[in-house]
Amino acid sequence: MIAARQRAVPAAAAVPAGRWRRPLAIALLAALATGLAAAADLQAGRQKAQACAVCHGPQGLSVTPDAPNLAGQPAIYLSAQLKAYRSGARKHEVMAVMAKPLSDADIDNLAAWFNAIRVEARLPD
Ligand code: HEC
Repeated sequence: MIAARQRAVPAAAAVPAGRWRRPLAIALLAALATGLAAAADLQAGRQKAQACAVCHGPQGLSVTPDAPNLAGQPAIYLSAQLKAYRSGARKHEVMAVMAKPLSDADIDNLAAWFNAIRVEARLPD
């Protein structure tokens, strides 16, 4: 009976007292990121992302060995990287070409799209 009840408790509720700061910070960051993403146009991002699929995959999970996964990455991080490729601050031949024609709005939309893709992490056995 007790065991059954314990199983029903969600993992987040099992965080020991005093350990709440980190989950709270993560929740606040997630709320912030969601707020920023809300200003972007998700469907426009989805449309633009078709040009990225050949390397980063149709679901933002890379299909080429040298391209990173984009799905679920923070929108702030994705847009910062795209702007860095566009300006040349981050150097990569292919990504410089991909980022060059993107407007700030395109970048916000792409970042929101890839961020909105949910990924599930599973630790190895
Ligand atoms: C021809 C293959 C190719 C295409 C198409 C492509 N990328 Fe990339 N992308 C790469 C590679 C390779 C890297 C790793 C570059 C490096 O080492 O800096 C990368 C890196 C990135 C990163 C940095 C990710 C990180 O974890 O730091 C972002 C963001 C990104 N690409 C977004 C895009 C977007 C958005 C598009 C479409 C508009 C796109 N890419 C199209 C190959 C591609």
